[in-house]
Amino acid sequence: MALPTVGPASQRRSSWSSPSRREFAFVAVLFVILVFLFESDLSLRFTTQSANDWNWNYSDRKEEAKITPTIDTAGDSDELTMNDARISWDGNQMPQTVVVQHTQGFNILDNLYSLNGTMYIVTDKPKSIPPLRLITSSAYPVFNGEEEVAKREPTSKDMRVISPKDARKLFGSSAGRVEGVTFLSNDPPQFVNHYYHFCAELLFGMWRAYSSLDPTIKSTGQTVLPPPRRMIFTHTPEDKFRDYAKMNQWVFHSAFPSASLEFSEDWEDRSETLKPFFFDRVVFGDRAAAMRGKAFVATERFASTAFELPGSAKWFEPLRSNVVEFAGLSKTTGAGTRQKPVITYVSRQSWGRRMLKPEDHEGLVKALKKLEKEHGYEVNIVEMDKLTREEQFQLAGRTTIMMGVHGNGLTSLIWMHPTPRAAVFEFFYPSGFAEDYEWTARALGIRHYGWWGSSYFSSPDLPPRSYPEGFQGNDIPIDGEAVARLVLHQLSLNEEADD
Ligand SMILES: *[C@@H]1O[C@H](CO)[C@@H](O)[C@H](O)[C@H]1NC(C)=O
Ligand SMILES: *[C@@H]1O[C@H](CO)[C@@H](O)[C@H](O)[C@H]1NC(C)=O
Repeated sequence: MALPTVGPASQRRSSWSSPSRREFAFVAVLFVILVFLFESDLSLRFTTQSANDWNWNYSDRKEEAKITPTIDTAGDSDELTMNDARISWDGNQMPQTVVVQHTQGFNILDNLYSLNGTMYIVTDKPKSIPPLRLITSSAYPVFNGEEEVAKREPTSKDMRVISPKDARKLFGSSAGRVEGVTFLSNDPPQFVNHYYHFCAELLFGMWRAYSSLDPTIKSTGQTVLPPPRRMIFTHTPEDKFRDYAKMNQWVFHSAFPSASLEFSEDWEDRSETLKPFFFDRVVFGDRAAAMRGKAFVATERFASTAFELPGSAKWFEPLRSNVVEFAGLSKTTGAGTRQKPVITYVSRQSWGRRMLKPEDHEGLVKALKKLEKEHGYEVNIVEMDKLTREEQFQLAGRTTIMMGVHGNGLTSLIWMHPTPRAAVFEFFYPSGFAEDYEWTARALGIRHYGWWGSSYFSSPDLPPRSYPEGFQGNDIPIDGEAVARLVLHQLSLNEEADD
């Protein structure tokens, strides 16, 4: 990778005051603490990943990690004061950027810098940095066609790798410190204001990547990870974040009550100061960069590349339990396998598009009512858009088996408890299939069955992705009796197991 050139000399800042004795002492103490923490759990943070399609020198990277302080994963660092607004350094001794975790499209970068809208990786070991096109992109929207794809390649305006010497010329001897963990989405607005795309893709992938720093997350959601302090959308304006059902904002603020949101307007404000910022830790997400990964090509799921990082099977539980508890549900409701099963059929019958044949909808309702009567299961037949948000989170959080026609209503499956008997039944027009909810359920450890009338399929025996004529129509068949039989089977299978 060629080293990009450094900006004009006029950008140099020569008037930074040198650090005070107090600042020196603070940095020294911090350094010692961090080196200690680092030594004690180096293996936790630096679990190896496969390095097939990028030129990565792992030993180089480890060397670097040892010399560069980073923030405390356990979140017990001292509270900052007003006097910690800047980070200063002597000569070229600024903290160097460390790639803590890397996979296509999801990267954890410590000690990242920004200036005038460009992200800067400062390192004297440029070989330790993966290709920038696997971290970021130009934030040009996703369209098909070679020419369109080429427009997504990042340029030196998006991100650069520079030496400490060049960084000194560019930044001077200090930067405004953006403390703690920052989730940063570099995506254009194209896919953000949609419940599925934000909650089950972007946030899902970013949280999965971040959670790789704690492979010991418990089924109770207990984790040592500090929450993100903020989420920054560098290319999505404020009015393109909220989805029509207002789910995105509920999920964000309930999962991370202390985190603030910044949008492209705010990013421009930061940029237009023409002053450098220093970020302790950035979880950097970029859809176009993820699309360059093999996992994406196989699944077409943006978040899939994040699953190449190590992680706990219960990785989602901290986020899930925060959201359902905020909605008023106890996080253990629906846990285990001994409670009364809750069957939820998410109907789209008044949505006007992608609906069941009316008589098959009636047949399904009848079969489910029969289960309720004969087996004492709780059966809910709901249209998600007719419930309040609170009701949606509560119901999904208690649901054992969720079913419905392929559609956004099934996004709620992410709030289900991933117990051994949990399952999602998704109805498609025969021969049609899209892996959106199948992949999402599997990523959480929830069993998924795709249905074509009276037959069903499940991973690993999945049909190819296909949108036959009728896929979006209102003539989708389903055999309610067959569905009821599989419900019984799925629940009996795991009757004895407990998680
Ligand atoms: C990787 O880095 C180490 C330590 O800096 C060096 O000894 C080794 O030769 C490098 N390997 C490659 C393949 O560049
Ligand atoms: C800052 O970035 C803008 C937009 O890319 C560019 O036009 C401008 O020249 C840059 N300013 C400086 C001082 O580098």
